[in-house]
This record gives sequence, C-alpha cells and structure tokens, in this order.
Amino acid sequence: MTPSSAIFRSQLFYALSGLIMLSAMPASATNYDEAKVGNYTLPDPLVCNDGARVTDTAMWFAKRRPEILESYRAEIFGRSPEAGTNVAFNVWETATNALGGTATRKQIEINFSGTPAGPFAHLLLYTPAGKISAPTFLCLQFNGNYTVNDDPAIAIFPGWNGKNGLPAMPKNPVRGESARNWKIPETLARGYGIAFVDYREIEPDLAAGAGFKNGVHKNFPTAAADGWGAIGAWAWGASRALDYLATDKDVDAQRVILFGHSRLGKTVLWAGAQDTRFAAVLANCSGEMGASLSRRDYGETVDDVAKHFPYWMAGNFQKYAGHWNDLPVDSHFLISLIAPRPLFLNTGSEDRWGDPHGEFLAARAATPVYELLGKTGIRETNFPPLDHALQHDLSFNCHTGKHDVLPADWDNFLDFADAHFAPKK
Ligand code: GCU
Repeated sequence: MTPSSAIFRSQLFYALSGLIMLSAMPASATNYDEAKVGNYTLPDPLVCNDGARVTDTAMWFAKRRPEILESYRAEIFGRSPEAGTNVAFNVWETATNALGGTATRKQIEINFSGTPAGPFAHLLLYTPAGKISAPTFLCLQFNGNYTVNDDPAIAIFPGWNGKNGLPAMPKNPVRGESARNWKIPETLARGYGIAFVDYREIEPDLAAGAGFKNGVHKNFPTAAADGWGAIGAWAWGASRALDYLATDKDVDAQRVILFGHSRLGKTVLWAGAQDTRFAAVLANCSGEMGASLSRRDYGETVDDVAKHFPYWMAGNFQKYAGHWNDLPVDSHFLISLIAPRPLFLNTGSEDRWGDPHGEFLAARAATPVYELLGKTGIRETNFPPLDHALQHDLSFNCHTGKHDVLPADWDNFLDFADAHFAPKK
C-alpha cells in the first residue's frame, strides 16, 4: 500500500467515525428539565377507535385490545410471522447434578428453520434439582450464556462482529461476568427455574444494511412498511424459546416470567403483548418505545429511536418522528396489552435517558385497564421513594443507580414472582 492510500484510509476512518459520532448525537437537544416537559394529552386506552367507551371485560378483549395490538403491529414494531412451524429443538445436554447438585442444567439448540441453514439460538435452562413443573424466568440477555454463571459446562458459541456483520467467537470469554445481574443460586433456592438466550443469536443487533442477513429475518424477508423490525424478531424468538419450555416437564409453562433489560425491556413488553402464554413480564429500564411515555419530552424521544435505531422498528414508525401526537398509541397502551397478567416495571434514578418518571406515569395511565380486568395497578399519585417497590399486579420500582439490573432488583423480582406464582413446595 502506498503512503497516500494509507493516509486516505485513515482520513476515511476519521470521516466515518465523525459520521458515527454525529449520528450518535440526539436528534434534537435532549430535555432533562421537568419544567420544560410541556403539556401533552394521552389517548384513553378504554376508548375505541370509533369513540365507543369500553364498559366491560368482554368488550376489552373482543374489541379494544385487538385494536391496540393492531396499531402496534401496523405502525410501531411491525408484523411478525405466525408461530414458527419449522422450528426444531435439540436438547443436547441434560445434567442432573449441576451447580453443586442444586440444579438440573439443560442446553438446548433452537433451530429457527429446522434445516442446516439455521439460524440457531442456544437456550440454557437451570431448574431446581429434583423438581418438576417449576415456575421459570426466561431471560433475554445481551451476551453469551457463559457470562451468566461460571459453570464451566456452559457451551460458548459465536456472537457477532459489529464491524463486519459476521459471526465471531468471543475474544476473551469471561465465564460468569454478568452473574451479579441474575442471582441464579437464590432463584433456584426459592423454587424457580431460570433460562437464558443471547438475543443476538435470534437476530444480530446490527445497524441498517448489516442486519437482517443472519438472523430470523432472513427466513421471513419483508420490505413492507409494516414489516417487523429487530424488536419484533427478538420478541418472536422469545416465543419460540417458550415453545420449547412448554415441552419440558421440569418447567411449568403456565408460569413463565419473561425478563429483559433496556432494548430487551422494550422487547419483552412487545413479546408479552403478543404472546399471552407469557404469564408475567419484567421490563427493566425499558425507556423510550418501552414503558416510558412517548408524548412526554424527557430523555430519549421517538425522534432519537427513529434516527438511531430504525431497524428496531417497522418502517411506518419513521413518520412519527417530530409528530408524537399523531401516534395511535402511547406506552400505557403497550402496558395495557399485558393486563391482566402481572407486570413489573423497574427503573433507575440515574437512567434519565430512559425517563423513570415517564414509566411511572404510563403505569398510572394503564391502571384503569388493570382495574377493569379486576386487577391492581398504580393508584399512588406520587413517584415512590427510591428502592421502595410498589408491588401490585402492575408493579413499579425505581432503584438508586444506573441503567442496570442490580442485585436488589432480583430480590424484588423474586418477591413479585412469589406474590403471583408462589412455587409449590
Ligand atoms: C440506547 C437506546 C435505548 C436502549 C439502550 C439499550 O441507549 O437509546 O433506547 O434502551 O440503548 O438497549 O441499552
């Protein structure tokens, strides 16, 4: 290579990284001032598109709920394929003496096409030793399964190289590096199973162009404006993991609690909205296009998501950038799609980008739906003190700290699970 081409390459590199930095900037100045949030009017989840008011449970399920679901499908997250008829499961390992004899460990290959072309995801499942029909947490997570626990038997699979969009083995895998997020021993001791999937195996989280070549999208290609984005794909993958759990006698498929953090918090809300087999949902710091209100101008906005993560969403979502009041939904509608099932919204005091207050207000705005269905929501008018979980059917907490899953959060999640699905001793 000549020196000038080397210089050109480095200039190109800086030009490109400049572009990347620019595109990482918020679409417009981010508001973090409560006084500047401005006024907004939320649509009423209990008023139908034709103006009729929902008066009873039957009307909610027959008319209003399908309308809201359809709005999310058409305009926000896109339409997912029907249940995966070709998906195949291979339980390639069962160990009854895992984690010092406290657990049964299973490792399951999910083949999303049922052909050698895959794509494949890998489910890791621990259930309490000697127990069948355990209520089970299904956790979408950001890294290989080897990160959740230092159990040396957990297989390591390739992730994705974000630069070239190709599969890549982790360079220096550290077993158990995210163990503090999960409290696996305590979860098992309290009678629950816990399962994990690395979301990138369902669909790589790669920006436009690089994505949709290696994940589940490739089997269901679509260019439609209401076609599914990556969040739809991850949610669909969670349902396929549930398809497997429903076949496993060690798991009670009626008591599967779906967990996700951040973009996976958005994902689990959408998965729980569409797939009512999920008995409960834990959405951690789900933020914009998760549980926090879109019409509230605080932290991340619709415009930011439309600009930086267009591939997460349906193409139609773009038209709402700068036009939040035209959205046919807001996050309290997404929450109401989970009702009457238990839902826990967890937030963090330092996660201003995710707007914890916007999640609290959304939970309050979804409460009439929970109450119509005979359940308890958020009646509290004031944002609760930090680390004081409001445990209802619709639960809310704001931990002291960052955009993260903290060990104390799992204690709340286990209490929440006990309240709704106490494991049979
Ligand atoms: C970005 C994005 C958020 C998202 C978060 C995450 O910060 O703007 O919407 O929740 O990534 O998934 O970590």
